[in-house]
Amino acid sequence: MTDRIDAILVVDFGGQYCHLIARRIRELNVYSEIVPPSVTKEEIGEINLRLNVRGIILSGGPSSVYEIDAPKINPQILSLGIPILGLCYGHQLIAYLLGGEVKRGAKQEYGVAYVTIDKPVGILKGLNSIEKVWMSHGDTVQSLPEGFEVLAHTENCPVAAFRHQEKALYGLQWHPEVIHTEHGMEILKNFLFEVCGCKANWKPSSLIDEKIEEIKKRVGEGEAIIALSGGIDSSTSAVIAARALGEKLTAVFVDHGFMREGEPDFVKETFEKLGVKVIVVDARERFFKKMKGIVDPEEKRRIIGREFIRVFEEIAKKIGAEHLIQGTIYPDRIESGFRKHSDKIKSHHNVAGLPTKIEFKSIIEPLKDLYKDEVRKLAKTLGLPDVIVHRQPFPGPGLAVRIVGEVTPERVELLRKADKIVTEEIEKSGFGGSLWQYFAVLTDTKSTGVKGDARAYGYVMAVRAVKSREAMTASFVHLPYELLERISTRITNELSSVTRVVYDITHKPPATIEWE
Ligand code: XMP
Repeated sequence: MTDRIDAILVVDFGGQYCHLIARRIRELNVYSEIVPPSVTKEEIGEINLRLNVRGIILSGGPSSVYEIDAPKINPQILSLGIPILGLCYGHQLIAYLLGGEVKRGAKQEYGVAYVTIDKPVGILKGLNSIEKVWMSHGDTVQSLPEGFEVLAHTENCPVAAFRHQEKALYGLQWHPEVIHTEHGMEILKNFLFEVCGCKANWKPSSLIDEKIEEIKKRVGEGEAIIALSGGIDSSTSAVIAARALGEKLTAVFVDHGFMREGEPDFVKETFEKLGVKVIVVDARERFFKKMKGIVDPEEKRRIIGREFIRVFEEIAKKIGAEHLIQGTIYPDRIESGFRKHSDKIKSHHNVAGLPTKIEFKSIIEPLKDLYKDEVRKLAKTLGLPDVIVHRQPFPGPGLAVRIVGEVTPERVELLRKADKIVTEEIEKSGFGGSLWQYFAVLTDTKSTGVKGDARAYGYVMAVRAVKSREAMTASFVHLPYELLERISTRITNELSSVTRVVYDITHKPPATIEWE
């Protein structure tokens, strides 16, 4: 096949910068995909049928190569003849697997360091004799396996960079993907273009054709349904899937009852205009029944996720669809703890909430390796309307995770009204476009107030507005007091059961964006 695009695989050893490596490569116009350490020679062969795998990067990770359960790669992969670059833990692993010596360093290094480049060749071509880099490691490579040579060192790290003298095998103790490494992009460029011989011909829009082909292939003669929420992720996935499958795709919008005002009608109208076949399922009663007495956030997410998938299964059976397409993006997967070596924060309903017994032949997630801003670019290229492209993200479980305590129809209705006020006021003030999310949260705290001349005892409503790039971190926004005052006045005036409004001034971390 001549039309396979050049690609780099990034093996995920659980390091916090693994995703950044994949992203930086795409920024250099080369396609990249993340694969687990368990990836086999055969699986790489399969990937090679659709992509031209030109190189493999082994990411960093928190483990020590000598730990019994430390993630390892099958050493066969090192001798496939595909160029390999190990970063940090990946660097130590190559040395360890091939017979070198890795030890706990006398001094651990975290942060900016200065390396001496002994040989500016291969991935280090064009670098200065001293380079400012970002280091983050406890272990170090003490001695190299046979056939390897040292390319750089620091005071505490005798082998800060190495290469094999004949094969394209490289290791770097530092992180070129982090902006603090001054010439990090030069190093990655050297690896991609000099060592692997990649062509810089991938654009985010190329992903559209790639995914259309993948969906066509996986669904074959069958039919698929997509869980459409109206958010940017599922909308973009739906349009890609519709291009792949046409009438063989049914987009299903499940109204679980925890939607914002006007949502079901908006979604139906918008997607019908885009030529996507949409059905709206009114499942409100069913979900509210399941939410009775449930207060634990993780339980809410699990129940909603499970019920969601049941509804899909039922609809899929009715229309004879065996495949489910989902709008999962990369941060959803990280935070749901899909990576063995990173901590689970919360179960995003479209990932970890899935029951173990899934009645679909396959689940296809075309955007699973992308970040929100990458998805937005894709959506623009696909011609999705601005209202969708610039829509604030909305969690799958909807308002249910913005209600602390039990989710009842009355409490949802109250929050829906408060949310509409927050949205209207923030958008009227012209702030909307610059924010990641802004919404109301119904707390389970009640407080005393005075309305008219009488004592009132009502709900405390919280308002949250955050800025973020990728939702991995976020900061609360310094909204003008006048705007907050208008919001507070309207909420307490228009919603008689609310006696107090508070503004959430917590960043993520330590908080998350949603309250639950
Ligand atoms: P947190 O609250 O984890 O949210 O800081 C990060 C981003 O993800 C959204 N979010 C979800 N999206 N299903 C989704 O599709 C979920 O279960 C879910 N929970 C949170 C949240 O709105 C924010 O943009």
